[in-house]
Amino acid sequence: MKNILVTGGAGAIGRNLLKALYAQHGSQMVIAGYNRTPLTGLPDGSLSAQVDVYDKERLISVVEEHDLDDGEIYHLAALLSIAAEKDPERARRVNMGGLKNVLDVAREYDMRVFWPSSIAVFGSSAPKHNTPQNAPLDPEFEYGRNKVEGEKLLNQFFDEFEVDGRSVRYPGLLTPGKPGPGTTEYAIEMIYAAVRGEHYASPLRHDTELPMMDMRDATRAALEIMKAPKEDIKVRTSYNLSAMSFTPEELAEEIRKHIPRFKTDYKIDDLKQRVADSWPNSIDDSSARDQWGWNHRYGLPEMTEHMIAEIQKELEILRNANGGVKYG
Ligand code: SER
Repeated sequence: MKNILVTGGAGAIGRNLLKALYAQHGSQMVIAGYNRTPLTGLPDGSLSAQVDVYDKERLISVVEEHDLDDGEIYHLAALLSIAAEKDPERARRVNMGGLKNVLDVAREYDMRVFWPSSIAVFGSSAPKHNTPQNAPLDPEFEYGRNKVEGEKLLNQFFDEFEVDGRSVRYPGLLTPGKPGPGTTEYAIEMIYAAVRGEHYASPLRHDTELPMMDMRDATRAALEIMKAPKEDIKVRTSYNLSAMSFTPEELAEEIRKHIPRFKTDYKIDDLKQRVADSWPNSIDDSSARDQWGWNHRYGLPEMTEHMIAEIQKELEILRNANGGVKYG
């Protein structure tokens, strides 16, 4: 096994993927990359590196310093949908410029690449329900446009330079921790509010259905697609990936099975609603299932129960650290 670099190690996917990679390979072979947000809580003796993916020279020096040639990059550094809409120029620099640099470096140092795309690649020409793998890609917002360009780049580097880049189109991902500036992240905020005993004002209409996934499944998907034999990976843009779909109302109902007094109302955020309305309601991921054996494990009940338990633990730790003062 060769060394592995994770960019965007401080983000939601990065934190979880790092844990899984440490469990599989130990901490010595995994380099946790971060840019603006320093990493905390890494295992003793683990290796980290500051790396702005837009700075190719810096990326090359990290690859050389840590013997990453012939190894792997999980390239996760990116701006989410709402952040990208607010600062499109920075989004293009990080989301597309960063990927281009990673692919150039992967080509030069013979590295394999994992890069997440998103359900945001779809727009109004794609069927809303069970959106197929080969549906047309005409995203209406910056983040989705960045992802479509990224998929094309990945495909081009495979065709022209044999760079073995693998990718999945993630739905909204749920994990404890501060939610990022995205659209599907409302679901994480809602569960936090419920556990804190607060009410939640949903930024999306009660019936806005979006594809979602437990981060435990998302992490496993990244590891499994990277382990799959090369000949099984037939889609060299990005694979549709699916686990569950729900609306704010359905999530609130599920939470109430555990926290019966939880209340929601609706304070629609115009931008988030427009972004959500432009995305699919559900995804057909049969190509991933047929070609490299993808299978999700967690649906809405399992995800909700797990999130509530984990957030309760997290808030309990904070409460104890605050000398018994009720958190929130
Ligand atoms: N969670 C992401 C967002 O809403 C979707 O890829 O921005």
